[in-house]
Amino acid sequence: MVEIIPSILVPTAAKCRSRISLLSRHEVAWTQLDVADGTFVPTQTFHDPEFIDGCKPRLAFEVHLMTNVTTDEISRWHYPWVKKIIFHLETTQEPRRILQAIGQLGKLAGIALNPETPVEAAQPFLGLTDTLLIMGVKPGWGGQPLLPETVPRLKLARQIHPHGNVEVDGGANLATVAQLAAAGANLLVIGSALHPKGFSSTFQQLTTLAHDAYQNPPSR
Ligand code: DX5
Repeated sequence: MVEIIPSILVPTAAKCRSRISLLSRHEVAWTQLDVADGTFVPTQTFHDPEFIDGCKPRLAFEVHLMTNVTTDEISRWHYPWVKKIIFHLETTQEPRRILQAIGQLGKLAGIALNPETPVEAAQPFLGLTDTLLIMGVKPGWGGQPLLPETVPRLKLARQIHPHGNVEVDGGANLATVAQLAAAGANLLVIGSALHPKGFSSTFQQLTTLAHDAYQNPPSR
């Protein structure tokens, strides 16, 4: 399954509400909520789960925790519209405990790796992990250029997680999505390339490009 996942990386409740209503108006199945509190990354995003619950979201959320993750933080995301919780391996000494807490909440688990973290670092935990997320940029901001080392990192991620979901987050757009999917990413998070103007046609183009490249890659 190849999926384009529009991200929600916003500073205010109003922008969060309008991004959710934009995505709900289109044939979007998944969105990624970027959660940052100024600890793990310098930026702070709006990410109040109660407010989002009040928006009665109809699409599936994955929550990307760019925070120093704890089991308490995991339990905040118990809402039915949260289907997946992704944390950064760099932010905990007890990844197994975090993975268990996510499983006990009945959610899918994802491990995210910063560009400087070796892909192999996730290997011991992949048995408990649905999604291995490879950051294509330094986390915290949208609109950054794709880091070139992302393509080989995705190839390695697909090798060590052959039957799971491999996700890329940051720097994906109409110019890069095909090479990222061909490298093995079947989930592609996209922020700045999916703005309100022309959303539907861009979303369709991205989906077609990613699907075709993922299904018919040059030898990986
Ligand atoms: C970056 C976030 C990404 C970001 C993607 O820290 O995790 O989800 O929103 O933005 P683009 O697609 O603009 O790189």
